Amino acid sequence: MTVLAAILAGVGWADVASAETVSLRELAQSRGIAFGSAVSAASLAGDASYARTLGSEFGVVTPEDAMKWAVLRPARDTFRWGDADAIVDAAVANGQGVRGHTLVWHSSLPAWLTGGSFTTTELRDVLKEHVQTTVRRYAGRVKFWDVANEVLNNDGSPRAGFWLERLGEEYIADVFRWAHEADPAAVLYLNEYGAETHGPKADALYALVRSLKEQGVPIHGVGLQAHLTGSSRPDQLPALLRRFTGLDVDVAVTELDVRIPVPVTPAGLASQAEVYRQVTAACLAVARCVSITVWGFTDRRSWIGATYPGWGAATLFDDDLATKPAYRSVADVLTRTDPNAPVGHWPLDDPAGTVAADVSGNGHDATVRGAKADGRVPHVTAFAGDGATTEASTGAPVLNTDGSFTVSAWVSMYSTGVPGVVASQDGETRSAFYLMYQKSTGRWEFTVPSADGTEVTWLTARSASAPVLKRWTHLTGVYEAPTRQLRLYVDGVPDGTRDGVTAWRSTKPFRIGRSLSGGRFDGAISDVRAWNRALPAGEVTGISDRTVAAWGFDNAAIDSSPFGRGTSLNSSGATYDSNALKLDGTGCAEGYGPALRTDRSWTITARVNLAAKGAARTVISQSGTVRDAFYLQYHQSYDRWAVIVPSADATGSDWQQVLSTAPPALNTWTTLSAVYDAQAATLALHVDGVRQGDPLPAVKSWPSTGRIHIGCSGTGGRFNGLIDDVKAYVPAA
Ligand code: XIL
Repeated sequence: MTVLAAILAGVGWADVASAETVSLRELAQSRGIAFGSAVSAASLAGDASYARTLGSEFGVVTPEDAMKWAVLRPARDTFRWGDADAIVDAAVANGQGVRGHTLVWHSSLPAWLTGGSFTTTELRDVLKEHVQTTVRRYAGRVKFWDVANEVLNNDGSPRAGFWLERLGEEYIADVFRWAHEADPAAVLYLNEYGAETHGPKADALYALVRSLKEQGVPIHGVGLQAHLTGSSRPDQLPALLRRFTGLDVDVAVTELDVRIPVPVTPAGLASQAEVYRQVTAACLAVARCVSITVWGFTDRRSWIGATYPGWGAATLFDDDLATKPAYRSVADVLTRTDPNAPVGHWPLDDPAGTVAADVSGNGHDATVRGAKADGRVPHVTAFAGDGATTEASTGAPVLNTDGSFTVSAWVSMYSTGVPGVVASQDGETRSAFYLMYQKSTGRWEFTVPSADGTEVTWLTARSASAPVLKRWTHLTGVYEAPTRQLRLYVDGVPDGTRDGVTAWRSTKPFRIGRSLSGGRFDGAISDVRAWNRALPAGEVTGISDRTVAAWGFDNAAIDSSPFGRGTSLNSSGATYDSNALKLDGTGCAEGYGPALRTDRSWTITARVNLAAKGAARTVISQSGTVRDAFYLQYHQSYDRWAVIVPSADATGSDWQQVLSTAPPALNTWTTLSAVYDAQAATLALHVDGVRQGDPLPAVKSWPSTGRIHIGCSGTGGRFNGLIDDVKAYVPAA
């Protein structure tokens, strides 16, 4: 067994004889990502040990400076390709990928360009020629391009510089279009620094990518540079990366280094190792994070010393090319997987195509045959089963079905006319388990056949509850091998067990929406997860949580629910204070889209602390076209808390509203909750847990797909005071 094979087979790190004979390049590849480094042309040419380590440890390279204007363009009519060619040729010879860097940047520009007298048209021509000549030259060899680099200021405004001043903001979209024209196969990135934690720059970058996508600009990825320090805490990175992938772009860490004060101390090296570890883990945790590139791999050759006096030692190898603790922590993360994590996890909300990504990091992507259904929240899709031809299947088995295992899914069934298998895994003649709707009993079932043969006994945990059509329901099937018990949970609640079950080993693909023999599901399926262990009841409750949005405002406006929506503070009148959202009556937090299907049942809760009355003070709302679909607010005309649902998305619509029984007290923390029950058509308001009068009957809430707002409505009504712990739930009823 080779060392790599040993690692892939799950042999622990400590069992491997000589861990460092396995390169980051191979380890990363085994986890479905690439590991790369910036490369200095001078070191590559003149330092043999540098070149050797670069070649063996890294799967992709970025020319550190060789493709920048100052190097590539000594004069208007001259390209100096030498350094760039040498790097690309060496990479290709070595089977490495190349990230081109960079086509447009405010820095590293030659004097003939910045000092020249060009008209706008001439300058556009110069830029277009540069982009297309460069991209064409390397087409087929440079697969990824950092097309535009560092286009934003830290406050999120467009970064001042030569290109912006001379060509206006349009230059960004133009450069992407030109690059795409020159090599339609190239994967085009927008690259930025300082957007690794939540804040105005991360929000502005998100808004920019969103607007480029909306304009149809060919942008395929977002690179976060990640020039960090030993005291950086990149714990928001997974959510930030995932937020971009929601715009249907790949993401990558493009220039990772972690500087520490010099001279180095063991504590400094340890803090650095921890930051490298977190960044690596963050990329692995995001399905569309395709690569991690370090900005130099040895302290012998790094830009940090010259750029940040007093700092250094920012890379994975020391001056002598010996590995540092940071190297070992990166290798360690790439090697280990969390034993408690799912072994397969398919959100089934992939924006396009026939691949359902396995976001567990285990590479079990599923091939989908089927359409897209509405997901649990607006703008999120699900797998749509038609009861006849649809399915999603992996290439290989996912679960060890002769040991303990768990499988879960959200489902919304459209018809009870067919047997509906939600998840299964093939044996030779039978599936090893069936998480399903059983037509003959009209119940949910978790079933294991006694053997992989034609003559079998069916061992079933059956629900007492009957399915409700077109209602999102959470199903979990657990097989606990030591007790030989099957358990079925519906909406997180135990709903059927079966004892005396011995499940058997199956070695064929995992299926979503069907079994080996058929039994196709008619309805929507999302968020299927599989574990090689029996989840305890408490964890089942956790995964069946109906929270669809949750903002804690702990110095970040990001939704911590599985839907991970971004939200941005829209003015200086919105800030954070004591881990809450602080509003002065002029600003608020705005989402980029809706959080709730407002024509279905919903519940919203928030903690509020009102500092000033005198105007409408909105806590939360979700916009339609001319009205918001609901407003939870302070109502100045009545001096009461109110939840309001306009009868229609039209000016002149009636206000269906419930008011609190008493006026709000100022400067006092109060918990508000608003409950819309679509089945009963009622609207209710609770203040500090007490319902305010009877629910208002005959309320009809209409669908809205505009933005969610916290602290204002679509038209104003800004809150003055503090807002915290805003949550939205989709009730089961
Ligand atoms: C740096 C190089 O590492 C240096 O050699 C050069 O002198 C200046 O540029 N963000 C980027 C990189 O996108 O291009 C920069 O590289 C580092 C910051």
